[in-house]
Amino acid sequence: MTKTIAKESIQQLFTEARTHHFWQNKPISEQTLRELYELMKWGPTSVNSAPARIVFVRSESEKARLYPALMGSNIEQVKSAPVTAIIAYNEKFYEDLPRLFPSYDARPFFTNDPKFSYDTAFRNSSLQGAYLIFAARALGLGVCPMSGFDNAEVDRVFFSGTALKSNFICTLGYGDSSKLYPRGPRLAFEEVCTIV
Ligand SMILES: Cc1cc2nc3c(=O)[nH]c(=O)nc-3n(C[C@H](O)[C@H](O)[C@H](O)COP(=O)(O)O)c2cc1C
Repeated sequence: MTKTIAKESIQQLFTEARTHHFWQNKPISEQTLRELYELMKWGPTSVNSAPARIVFVRSESEKARLYPALMGSNIEQVKSAPVTAIIAYNEKFYEDLPRLFPSYDARPFFTNDPKFSYDTAFRNSSLQGAYLIFAARALGLGVCPMSGFDNAEVDRVFFSGTALKSNFICTLGYGDSSKLYPRGPRLAFEEVCTIV
């Protein structure tokens, strides 16, 4: 039986959750990264395609390979964050469909239509990135998603010779809430939504 989750949980996930740019001096364990994946993996994707692939960049040597691709203050943010996740997508995600979506063979939808295949990979890996953000918040982690970087350079450095392409990156850590940026307003229901 599902029910509305506790008010404190709604606050932690949504209304009081903030984007973090500064971090406590506290590492993230491999166990926590595994728990993060074990939550995010349940988010829905079309034909259960799960095209996202995640690289958790944690070592100093691998972080250094990211810096040349980053814009402006994102370099310092990645330097100081315990982990930066590269959310990528597998261009050949449809190869997993016989296992992930055994009801019927959905592969021809994608192999016969490259644009539909790309749209599906990008759309669903973006969704999975959002699931990662909210899974992180559920585990008490802070995040800063980032698109201020050179995707082609990240792909060259991390995914050369593979079918993976970067979508966005996301720093992860235990946020320093004393150094938050001012909260930006959000659009009102009437500006965004219509009920028809
Ligand atoms: C897809 C995406 C890309 C973003 N790119 C950057 C970035 O390159 N650098 C940065 O500092 N913040 C970046 N942000 C952070 C947003 O500016 C921030 O989440 C937004 O202003 C909301 O802040 P709040 O959660 O504290 O209200 C990005 C956020 C998203 C979702």
